[in-house]
Amino acid sequence: MIDAVSHMTPPVCRPDAGVEFPFREKEFRFIAELMHATTGIKLNPSKMNMVYARLVRRLRELDLSSFSAYCNLLRGPDGQEEMSHLFNALTTNLTRFFREPHHFDHLRDVVVPALVARASRSRRIRIWSAGCSSGEEPYSIAMVLAEQIHDLDAWDARILATDLDSHMLATGAGGVYSLGAAVDIGGGRLNRHFVKAGVNLRVDERLRRLIAFKRLNLVDPWPMKGPFDAIFCRNVMIYFDAPTKVGLVRRLSGLLSPGSWFYVGHSESLLEPGSNLVPDGRTVYRKDMACH
Ligand SMILES: C[S@@+](CC[C@H](N)C(=O)[O-])C[C@H]1O[C@@H](n2cnc3c(N)ncnc32)[C@H](O)[C@@H]1O
Repeated sequence: MIDAVSHMTPPVCRPDAGVEFPFREKEFRFIAELMHATTGIKLNPSKMNMVYARLVRRLRELDLSSFSAYCNLLRGPDGQEEMSHLFNALTTNLTRFFREPHHFDHLRDVVVPALVARASRSRRIRIWSAGCSSGEEPYSIAMVLAEQIHDLDAWDARILATDLDSHMLATGAGGVYSLGAAVDIGGGRLNRHFVKAGVNLRVDERLRRLIAFKRLNLVDPWPMKGPFDAIFCRNVMIYFDAPTKVGLVRRLSGLLSPGSWFYVGHSESLLEPGSNLVPDGRTVYRKDMACH
């Protein structure tokens, strides 16, 4: 028999540790809709416990007693300011140096030789790490460029590294990583590109100068015009719904110069009828040469 009272009680998230802050479905729905509208990130109902766990510290910091009060803060005059805390809490930032190493082999074996071949006409390199998290991806790109182009200092080479999460960008810009984070970098590379910083490692100044870390929401208008020689947008679009993803791929490919490369994550695919991107390796695409 269904107990009439508990049947009428709104569903409450019950993490194992007990419910410190009431969190009902309608508050989850408000947060999920706000995240989707402002960032493209889709949070389906199975993410309710994750949202609770990630926001609980923020509610304590703000001395709020419920998720209902937190939603009111987001709706109110200070809501805009709170949004960056919401984004920082709810984005998933997992990354590693040389994650999906075949992409860095492709960069070394295909992209860099093409850039070097055109050096008599242009020594300009522009690469965008879109959704760079804490910087391991753009630093991996920079290591490959520095290793393959021996006079890189004489080139106009820039890597743009953008993300929504300001904490991750601060880590990237600081360029300091723990020994654990550096585990995927071989010893030769560690000696060449890192210096000791207490118990941690700091990326060498020469690599850091190549990269500009900037906060950018991929679903907002972008200030830069490109064109880019390569765009890495890996393991970012998996959090978006299909229309957001399709629109983003079109905008990103619009900033690639003809014949340039687009890298996506291992579970992503850009195959779309009429697309000007053709496969050029495992989860690597190349923009049609004839496309302007
Ligand atoms: C899982 S990490 C991927 C990091 C790196 N590209 C990699 O593959 O290792 C996804 C990153 O995308 C960022 N992100 C998610 N939605 C975004 C958006 N709308 N605009 C900019 N960055 C976003 C997150 O903050 C997070 O740092």
